[in-house]
Amino acid sequence: MKILKQRLEEMKWVPIHIENITGAHAGDIYRFEIINQNDEKEKYIYKEFAEGRNNETEVYKKLENYLEPFTKLVKWWESNPQAILMVDLGSPLKDDFMELPLHSKKKSIVSILQRLSYLHSLKIDQTALTLDTHSITYEWSEWAIKQLKLLKARHEWASDWYNLIVYTYQKLKLSDYKVRGPLTLTHGDPHLENVFCYDNEIWFIDWEWAAIGSPLRDITILLQDVYDEELVRYTYKAYKELLDSKKISISNDAYRRDFHHLYIDHTTMMLAWEIEKYFQGYTSEARIKEIVEFKMKEINRVVKEEADISQ
Ligand SMILES: Nc1ncnc2c1ncn2[C@@H]1O[C@H](COP(=O)(O)OP(=O)(O)O)[C@@H](O)[C@H]1O
Ligand SMILES: [Mg+2]
Repeated sequence: MKILKQRLEEMKWVPIHIENITGAHAGDIYRFEIINQNDEKEKYIYKEFAEGRNNETEVYKKLENYLEPFTKLVKWWESNPQAILMVDLGSPLKDDFMELPLHSKKKSIVSILQRLSYLHSLKIDQTALTLDTHSITYEWSEWAIKQLKLLKARHEWASDWYNLIVYTYQKLKLSDYKVRGPLTLTHGDPHLENVFCYDNEIWFIDWEWAAIGSPLRDITILLQDVYDEELVRYTYKAYKELLDSKKISISNDAYRRDFHHLYIDHTTMMLAWEIEKYFQGYTSEARIKEIVEFKMKEINRVVKEEADISQ
């Protein structure tokens, strides 16, 4: 908070209120209010990165112009501690999403998909920008196996779920998987805590993992806050139609394969992360049970569907 106050002073901004946003974050996040020159209140978010977690500033440096339509970044600091300043976009879509009726969830998903299809259509010079390229590894499966074992050691209701993770990665040879579809700029982490509706438009925060990858990288992460098989299937269909309408060419077969492989890897990643948040005290036992059961059911469904088709 001390450095934030110093930095605001240098900008001649006088905050009337500063609060810390608590949670399992990769740094310190503050919301503050100022009175602008027209005597109006304005709210901002200041995010100070933890040591080694400052890739988001690198991303902004490389992609500032491309990302302007998607993010309300105001300023960043490259000196230590690195930090960014953003417009306060209100609350993330996740806060209300769970309680929405199905038709409103579909509407919300479609508006996010439209924005993502715009991001995925950007023509960027991939070599000049030296961005990382996303690929599937064993990292998430190893983490999820470890977390599921810890969960089993703690709770009788937990079963030997880690066996399904081991089986799935072997069966689909997931860590050798090369995406079939086009490679585009991807946000890398658009789950619903990183997506906002502000001024009737969809905005994204938290660009730390932005990289070149399959557009389905983003879609399968977005789906990590969707606990409804019908809505997962709806999203699958809706995004293919959007890609077709934008002339982003991908065959039905490549789309299905990319989607399934990335969906499993991201479901595995989020499974491990959700268990971690439970261990850190952010989630109730009843909720983590629902989360794990749903995600394991999805992995089981998709590995079966994919293995049946590819045989
Ligand atoms: N521009 C913003 N407007 C409103 N809330 C924000 C904004 N930036 C961050 N937040 C809040 O802080 C949380 C964490 O910020 P985020 O940048 O996603 O950090 P992390 O890398 O820890 O996920 C968000 O989920 C959101 O609740
Ligand atoms: Mg985030």
